Amino acid sequence: MREVGRVIGILSGKGGVGKSTLTANLAIQLARLGKEVIAIDCNLTTSHLGLLFGFYDYPVTLNQVLRGDYEIEDAIYEHKSGVKIIPGSLSPRDLYGVDLLDLRLKLSSLVGKNDFVLLDGAPGLGREAISAILCSQEVMLVAIPTLSSVLDVLRVKAVVGSYNIPILGVVVNMYEKRYKVRPEEIGVSVNLPILATIPYDKELIESNVFKIPVSILNPKARSSREFEKLAKKLVGMEEKVGIFQKIKSLFVASS
Ligand SMILES: Nc1ncnc2c1ncn2[C@@H]1O[C@H](COP(=O)(O)OP(=O)(O)OP(=O)(O)O)[C@@H](O)[C@H]1O
Ligand SMILES: [Mg+2]
Repeated sequence: MREVGRVIGILSGKGGVGKSTLTANLAIQLARLGKEVIAIDCNLTTSHLGLLFGFYDYPVTLNQVLRGDYEIEDAIYEHKSGVKIIPGSLSPRDLYGVDLLDLRLKLSSLVGKNDFVLLDGAPGLGREAISAILCSQEVMLVAIPTLSSVLDVLRVKAVVGSYNIPILGVVVNMYEKRYKVRPEEIGVSVNLPILATIPYDKELIESNVFKIPVSILNPKARSSREFEKLAKKLVGMEEKVGIFQKIKSLFVASS
């Protein structure tokens, strides 16, 4: 029997740091591990999640569901990866009469049918982002290695903490050594575990061009491999430890 699914909000404070990219690729990697996954675009003011999967045209979106015109099941679209998506409308007209906080009432049917419900949050800490936080059972934060991004993670962390919602940790995205800050230092600054370090990866440009998530376009890409590791970590699957790591751990243990 399926255990009740986990509702994980993906947030960052700062915009453009890779929340939607993470949501899409984590969803695909979890589906590859045999999990039932649904990803919901909770960034209704500037929705992109559907586009990342190559969906442009959908008759029913989350906006119409929240307005009460349709049931949430009517807005589910299945990608060939097996991931289900609930997109936001691309039209600004569909923002009227819509309150993302109402999603909370509609999640229960999805939680029963999915192992993971991933909420792709809006940037900032406005009503939309807060609504996504309030719909979440757990939160995953995304930072890039810049001061402004780390500061914004701290801001979101404070808000999430004020609602007593557990934070799984932080994903450091677009990582490059030339930022001159190590992912661990970011973890210490925000006092959260580092869940994954996703490198800056030019393959993401191709992924955008072809509207195919990088985990499908190139499963061996550096970013894809890190998304895979993160998915395994989430489901409690240990990565195989290489011989060099094993040797290193022997010495660390004995010193
Ligand atoms: N690891 C990466 N390497 C290179 N480019 C990346 C990486 N992650 C994301 N990008 C690119 O950065 C841009 C922003 O990513 P994305 O849309 O996922 O961010 P976001 O946090 O969801 O933005 P918003 O706050 O507007 O919702 C996209 O063009 C995406 O392809
Ligand atoms: Mg986004």
